[in-house]
Amino acid sequence: MFNVVKLHTLVPNIHLMEVEAPEVAEQVQPGQFVIVRAAADGERIPLSVADWNPQAGTVTLVFMEVGVSTGRLARLKAGGSIPTVAGPLGRPTSIAAAGQRVVCVAGCYGIASMFPIVRALHAAGAEVSVVLEARSRFLLYWEDRMKALAKQVITITRDGSSGFRGHVHGLPALLHEAGVTPDQIVVNGCTFLLSQTSSSLASLGVPITVSLNPIMIDGTGMCGVCRVTVGGEMKFACVDGPDFDGRQVDWKEMLARRKQYMDEEALLWHRTSCGKGH
Ligand SMILES: Cc1cc2nc3c(=O)[nH]c(=O)nc-3n(C[C@H](O)[C@H](O)[C@H](O)COP(=O)(O)OP(=O)(O)OC[C@H]3O[C@@H](n4cnc5c(N)ncnc54)[C@H](O)[C@@H]3O)c2cc1C
Ligand code: FES
Repeated sequence: MFNVVKLHTLVPNIHLMEVEAPEVAEQVQPGQFVIVRAAADGERIPLSVADWNPQAGTVTLVFMEVGVSTGRLARLKAGGSIPTVAGPLGRPTSIAAAGQRVVCVAGCYGIASMFPIVRALHAAGAEVSVVLEARSRFLLYWEDRMKALAKQVITITRDGSSGFRGHVHGLPALLHEAGVTPDQIVVNGCTFLLSQTSSSLASLGVPITVSLNPIMIDGTGMCGVCRVTVGGEMKFACVDGPDFDGRQVDWKEMLARRKQYMDEEALLWHRTSCGKGH
């Protein structure tokens, strides 16, 4: 069993869980993920590692409550435990060299998964600009952590309560205004943010690294559930990714495959008293 050391809500619907997993904490690199189960009868779900402490043997996961499994995780308490934390899995995010200008775009749980990437870029001597996106100011978090590492932090909110009003569609103008000409763009967050940022910034002609989040089961390349098409080739996000160039991803297929179990997920949600566990 893996002990839960901390569990609290960061912003509405987004929770932070620190769990003892010494082997993961020892080896994990930015951009990698773990597969967790909230209970012995629970499904396996992938979550990115947002931070780690090899001395304490702990890893930090930040998750958005969207269905039964994330709902069960959210109802755990510090002092409890979970049966599975498997990993680290996936390929680490490739970290740009010193002097490279990197724009990191992050929203919802992707703000947390972007944090170790920003930290590694900073340590490598890259010049990092961070763009945080949310519906409203009250959904932003870890801005202070990003400010401590990045050259600048830009916020975009749909209601204009923090930074620029709008969505990532306005990013080309925003980066131009801020005088940022990136050599690379990295995007973490929901599929909508990944696909929209990829299309809005494709004209800049630089690599756009997106961390894909398809449905996964084993996370080791065995089941085929996480199949995606990138540059016309079939890839498994768990072993070939989760990072790919967003300009090459078949977003239509990715979105369709993500929705394939929606009826079953809704049914399970109702059977478990709206995610409150068994
Ligand atoms: C490599 C990887 C890393 C991830 N890292 C994180 C993370 O750090 N934090 C986090 O909150 N989530 C992360 N996800 C997404 C997370 O795995 C899903 O949100 C989770 O499996 C949903 O489980 P559930 O039972 O609570 O919801 P379900 O009942 O399975 O789904 C509820 C709703 O969420 C949607 N959904 C299902 N799977 C996903 C998905 N992969 N992404 C987005 N929406 C989904 C469904 O379409 C449905 O509408 C990651 C996914 C991958 C592949
Ligand atoms: S999750 Fe099974 S092949 Fe990727």
